[in-house]
Amino acid sequence: MKSYPLFINGKWQDAEQYDFVYNPHDQGAIARVPLANKEEMHLAISAAVHAQKKFSSMPANKRSDILMNAAILLQEQRETAARLVSIEAGKPIKDARKEIARTVMTYTLSAEEARRLPGEFINMDAVPGGEGKTGYVKRQAIGTVGAITPFNFPFNLVAHKIGPALAAGNSVVLKPAEQTPLSAYYIADIFYKAGLPDGVLNVVSGPGSSLGKQLAEDPRVQAISFTGSTDTGKRLESSAIGKKLQMELGSNAAVIVGDDADIERIASSLVRGAFGFQGQVCISVQRIYAHRKIYKSLLSEMRRKTEEIGIGSPLDEANDLSSLITPEAADRVLSWVEEAVDHGAKAITDIKREGAIIHPVILTNTTPEMKVNAEEVFGPVVTVEPFDEWEEAVIGVNHSRYGLQAGIFTNNLHEAFEAADQIETGGVHINDVPTLRLDHFPYGGMKDSGSGREGVKYAVEFLTKQKLISFQSPFY
Ligand code: SIN
Repeated sequence: MKSYPLFINGKWQDAEQYDFVYNPHDQGAIARVPLANKEEMHLAISAAVHAQKKFSSMPANKRSDILMNAAILLQEQRETAARLVSIEAGKPIKDARKEIARTVMTYTLSAEEARRLPGEFINMDAVPGGEGKTGYVKRQAIGTVGAITPFNFPFNLVAHKIGPALAAGNSVVLKPAEQTPLSAYYIADIFYKAGLPDGVLNVVSGPGSSLGKQLAEDPRVQAISFTGSTDTGKRLESSAIGKKLQMELGSNAAVIVGDDADIERIASSLVRGAFGFQGQVCISVQRIYAHRKIYKSLLSEMRRKTEEIGIGSPLDEANDLSSLITPEAADRVLSWVEEAVDHGAKAITDIKREGAIIHPVILTNTTPEMKVNAEEVFGPVVTVEPFDEWEEAVIGVNHSRYGLQAGIFTNNLHEAFEAADQIETGGVHINDVPTLRLDHFPYGGMKDSGSGREGVKYAVEFLTKQKLISFQSPFY
């Protein structure tokens, strides 16, 4: 079985303690990875701080080349990388391939962004006192970034942290999810081969509760970029006093379907949006508000499409749904479904569990207070409820402590744009599911879904500080 050392200061270093990583589908141990301690994390931060100054003065075109080299290397190894995601995260192989293609795009966008770090010329004499002065604003790296990433996109959500940070000239200490550290070590090796200087990227796996807190508390780290649950995000926020914080947190994304819906097309998108990667996506479709005129036909079309989903091993090309990340996650999801059913919800699909697989669940007759509506399920469960007036549907969507993305299906532009303005989420997609994410657009939440925006250009803005430089002409 392969053992992965720590990646600190451009070197693979043995750790004091190791733990196993398990395949979520068959629970077999697949590798040994470091369970880093405080001292090892301290070393990683020291290496990152030491490397950062030199790296930020590296010409932008060189930083861009390194990012592009990494994108090319990953593209060449795409099938190996996809199989790694599939094995360590239990992601169906077709989805794992899509994730790798997106990751190549995220690093490519980062390479492009490195070349166009935004600046601004200031027309100084636009106000009295500015006569004879020239001014400009440039963006500089903020320093060392602590990146803490989740299990669900172990390549692409790591890329959304590393890519923009390196593009801007920052160094990074990455603490990957405990369940999926192999992808992080894999990408570290790619960056090493792509020519990244020693110490600019460091990967330290181990317990999130202690290592994440240490990263957040260390005064040498200028920013924390975190993707994960709202509870963990809030704990990190309280440790990371005085730091810049980019928090991509939980959600229970909602969709409104109007009475003019093309049921067949929309049912396919909703089923994919709800059950893709077992619903373990922050923007999975979790709550659907369907106009009463089409509610029954939408439900039956969704059930029909759900019955076509291939279920089983993530490596089987025929499958679209596999095991949840851990058996405990499956216990929790099933208990929330059972609790809803006990309180009057009606399941229109069979409730079935095999190992850590939960078969897709469509519920109706739910109430907003049930966990399947009020909390982030992070499993293959969706609720569908009827509405009569658009206002009622918008109130339903906003009846949530979360606000990441939402979807609206209608041909009525007035209703669509009115609702889009009123919905309290960081992004609203008209005639699309909230699960839509393209890697260049701003992505982030309102309310308990977090703060700050990813999307390469927006993350680069976040990971840089503005500096004004003015020059007084001696001849004026
Ligand atoms: C997430 O789960 O927050 C990321 C979703 C995505 O990148 O598609």
